[in-house]
Amino acid sequence: MVDQTTHLPVLLADVISGLAPHPGGLTIDGTLGLGGHAEAILDASAPDGRLLGFDRDGDALARAGERLARLGDRLVTAHASYAEMSRLAPPLGFAAVDGILLDLGLSSLQLDDPARGFAFRYDAPLDMRFDPSSGLTAADLVNSLPEDELADLIYEYGEERHSRRVARAIVRGRPVTTTNRLAEIVAASIPGGRREKIHPATRTFQALRIAVNDELRELERGLPQALDLLKPGGRLAVISFHSLEDRLVKHWMKRESTDCLCPPEQLVCTCGHVAALRLVTRKPVEASAQESGANPRARSAKLRAIERVAA
Ligand SMILES: C[S@@+](CC[C@H](N)C(=O)[O-])C[C@H]1O[C@@H](n2cnc3c(N)ncnc32)[C@H](O)[C@@H]1O
Repeated sequence: MVDQTTHLPVLLADVISGLAPHPGGLTIDGTLGLGGHAEAILDASAPDGRLLGFDRDGDALARAGERLARLGDRLVTAHASYAEMSRLAPPLGFAAVDGILLDLGLSSLQLDDPARGFAFRYDAPLDMRFDPSSGLTAADLVNSLPEDELADLIYEYGEERHSRRVARAIVRGRPVTTTNRLAEIVAASIPGGRREKIHPATRTFQALRIAVNDELRELERGLPQALDLLKPGGRLAVISFHSLEDRLVKHWMKRESTDCLCPPEQLVCTCGHVAALRLVTRKPVEASAQESGANPRARSAKLRAIERVAA
């Protein structure tokens, strides 16, 4: 059982100043987790602000609901991906909202639960699904993908330069069904891997988690939906934890804050693209040394925020 009091929401003060919640405001938290950010947003929008929290993990929703029971019907939850928000939020009363938060990736609750198979520090079935009730597990992927597809996945999502060797070793070691076995195979396949500062399996585990949950595609689908649901003046804040996510968020924000997307040598605009947002953060906000010291998860966090402009 994980101690829920040890969960520390990342960049909390920056999220609150970025979203600026106010009484009566409507907020969507696309990644509710244990509701640490949600709680602070609801407290800042008391007495009547409301928040809709999405999570793919039913267990996280149940725990957040229990933890935040004092907030009554000011908190509404939905067991779904945030990439379904444009379909699911309006019927729940969240059609034009003041703020949206995406705190991407996995929670400490998931990482620290040996049964979920996200971490190699515990031996567990290789699962890694945010929603353990549906979809393929990491074991399904490592035991069924052709070697070259597995190598591409590990290269693309894990940025692992030894991806071909790693994939070959995994295929030779099949069936691979547990976290420790996978970590051993990966470590043994990487030259000098055991001397690295981080465990050599870290990149492969990241790649599998991203693939199992289709995280980058969900983010690509979710960002435009978030923009559509914001009122003019409404804010979106996104916290990412690795360069693939941050790059995607940064490029999308840049594109949507630009009026014309025609090639620079073209003198007359033919695309008609109009900026729909304004950047609130020009550079990503990162955690202070103090926060990173207290919460290792904060070390790689990058927060970017935008404001929707009037159409
Ligand atoms: C970093 S945690 C959020 C922590 C939360 N902000 C807090 O303060 O407790 C990320 C959560 O997002 C969920 N998640 C990841 N991808 C999701 C998606 N596409 N849709 C909904 N929830 C998602 C995970 O299950 C996890 O519970």
